[in-house]
Amino acid sequence: MTSHSIAIIGGTGAEGLGLGLCWARAGETVIIGSRDLQRAKDSAEKIKQKAGAAARVSGEENVAACAFADRIVLTIPFENHAAILKQIRPAIRPGSIVIDATVPLAASIGGRATRTLGLWEGSVAQQTAEILGKEISVVSAFHNVSSELLKADDPIDCDVIVCGDNADANLEVRRLAAKIPGVRAVDGGKLENTRIVEQIAALLIGLNIRNKGHHSGIRITGLPDAAYQSEK
Ligand SMILES: NC(=O)c1ccc[n+]([C@@H]2O[C@H](COP(=O)([O-])OP(=O)(O)OC[C@H]3O[C@@H](n4cnc5c(N)ncnc54)[C@H](OP(=O)(O)O)[C@@H]3O)[C@@H](O)[C@H]2O)c1
Repeated sequence: MTSHSIAIIGGTGAEGLGLGLCWARAGETVIIGSRDLQRAKDSAEKIKQKAGAAARVSGEENVAACAFADRIVLTIPFENHAAILKQIRPAIRPGSIVIDATVPLAASIGGRATRTLGLWEGSVAQQTAEILGKEISVVSAFHNVSSELLKADDPIDCDVIVCGDNADANLEVRRLAAKIPGVRAVDGGKLENTRIVEQIAALLIGLNIRNKGHHSGIRITGLPDAAYQSEK
């Protein structure tokens, strides 16, 4: 493991495992985080089996995973989001980037999966930024990419909207998103725009339910080519 690793908190779940697989295939060093060390190791092994023995993937308990990484992805259910953040906060090093993909579905408090909850901070990622403080850059991304597509072997027919208040961190996350075959990463502007991206995720769940699908996604069309490029 190097300090230039990606830790995925909740990496044993559908979305985290899918992202981990894509980045392991792209040659990134991935640490699968879990509340349970053995579950983390088992998931890392699953990724290795699909990505190949040369893949740099390991499993760690969530707090340890953060200590080894400079990019930390949150793919955890909203109901446990704040509690896990408070647990891992001391292990996150200043200067790290935290990438939040959590959607505040109303289902997390017994409501519908086709609606989001209204949060005082505006969005989950803004709540994350408040909890973590100014030394950590919080960027939101991947809300609209289905785990089914991430775990499959084909290029993904979906764009990723990346929102964040730190331009360099936003660019780094766009670069990571663009490592997923088929994905184009688009700068969605300030972190406050995450609220809109979260709502698109709930809309996509509704589209899946109404049409008996599993992996609707989005494409942003009509922008100049430069808008889809993730390098400076
Ligand atoms: N699935 C998708 O297609 C998709 C797409 C975009 C965004 N997202 C978002 O990504 C997040 C994770 O979604 P998911 O579908 O990957 O969920 P999931 O399959 O249920 O996995 C979530 C992971 O979070 C950890 N976790 C921590 N606290 C938990 C709790 N109280 N209950 C259950 N699991 C808990 C679990 O790992 P350990 O038990 O190993 O700690 C679990 O494997 C959600 O916020 C979701 O809205 C999902």
